[in-house]
Amino acid sequence: MLKFDFNNMMQSAVGDKGISQKQFDEYLPLAQKAFDAVQSKRGEGWQGWMTPAGSDVVDKIMKVATNVRENFDVFVVLGIGGSALGPIAVFNALCHLYHNELPREKRNAPKFYVIDNADPERMNALFDVIDLRKTAFNVITKSGATSETMSQYLVVYDMLQKAYGKEADKHVFATTSEKKGNLIKLAKQHGFETFFIPEGVGGRFSELSPVGLFPAAVLGIDVKGLLIGSISMDAVCRNPDVYGNPALMSALLQFIAMKNGANISVMMPYADSLKYIADWYCQLWAESLGKEVDRDGKTVNVGQTPVKALGVTDQHSQVQLYTEGPFDKVVTFLQVGEFRSNVVIPQGCEEYPDVNFLCGHDMGELVNTELFATRFALTKKHRMNYTITMECVDAYNIGQLLYLFQMQTAFAGELLNVDAYNQPGVEEGKNATYALFGRSGYEQKKAELDQASKNVSNDKFVIDCD
Ligand code: PA5
Repeated sequence: MLKFDFNNMMQSAVGDKGISQKQFDEYLPLAQKAFDAVQSKRGEGWQGWMTPAGSDVVDKIMKVATNVRENFDVFVVLGIGGSALGPIAVFNALCHLYHNELPREKRNAPKFYVIDNADPERMNALFDVIDLRKTAFNVITKSGATSETMSQYLVVYDMLQKAYGKEADKHVFATTSEKKGNLIKLAKQHGFETFFIPEGVGGRFSELSPVGLFPAAVLGIDVKGLLIGSISMDAVCRNPDVYGNPALMSALLQFIAMKNGANISVMMPYADSLKYIADWYCQLWAESLGKEVDRDGKTVNVGQTPVKALGVTDQHSQVQLYTEGPFDKVVTFLQVGEFRSNVVIPQGCEEYPDVNFLCGHDMGELVNTELFATRFALTKKHRMNYTITMECVDAYNIGQLLYLFQMQTAFAGELLNVDAYNQPGVEEGKNATYALFGRSGYEQKKAELDQASKNVSNDKFVIDCD
């Protein structure tokens, strides 16, 4: 199981910039309320992600994934946000760090790419490196309406159809809502192999649904290990005692830290394999908690800005700020006990003691020693931080970690009294894009946009260097 050390969040470790036991105790009744609220809605509404994927779903995923592994050399996910960040995070955590560069017999799975932008250069670059004939595309969109994903689908399907006619349909695998959106209609029309995202599972909470499980299975990742890890973490998170429930504890501490002015949450894994877990966490934490109004309609403008950092790399980039800048952050360290492979630093440079002291140690030891040292430096400078340790990076532990952060976010949403499952702030931009692209039904939005650009017409604030 994962290990958690929250000591450095408290005044006893970081002085008066930390949380006092008194303040912590004052918020315990609120934490209890948050716990009860999450518990009482288990599996209901948008908490559908708490129900693990059933064996029928997993069996189908495994079967289709075997077919993809046997018949395709490349597997491409087309998706964005919650439909892309999970597959990226799990791929990077559990596959070889240079997966695509390995020869097929060592990879033992197709090459893997995720296109999570509408950047035309990225799209063209993909076509430069793949053989369409040997490529499977997994189009992932819960709504079946996301412009970026659907435009990628249109481009890919057009190419496939022009090249292979009806055979094109065998290259497309859809992951979407069973009941809503256009992708399900297209899937039925073309007979695409399809996986359903349960209705109560929103994008950023969907990695342990077919959104993440199908790509993972194609890559040969231990899907059952991921699920068992998440189920075991779920059992831990059912504990009503905050001292035995790491998700409730971290949500409560982050909530109190926010109240005390720590508006930034830095997620800092000390392992390259976990780098994209921090990306995934950033979306989860930002989109779920960054809200203008609470559930009573009161304007609150809450949220904590998530920042991704990587140990040890960002010690040479961001840690100066974390140590001496404003007291506005909580740093979460992700530590790995044993790296899956290690490198001993050989003897050498005997005449240079400032280099030679490294010899005989290994690189895993260096990473973890630097984590220890950075944590010491931050704590000494009264900076709140806590550490999550996983014994090793494997499917079980990654399943635990993902589920932990989802539970932490659910509890934090309750503590802040916001709807953690909507994203109204994203809608305005989406609607404006539809209007500018001339989508029917968005004429009024287009008029509003035209008016807005007329209103902002002060040339003094436009600098054109031409
Ligand atoms: O978390 C979310 O709900 C969003 O980030 C979505 O995942 C993202 O907008 C993509 O949506 P969809 O899966 O409908 O294409």
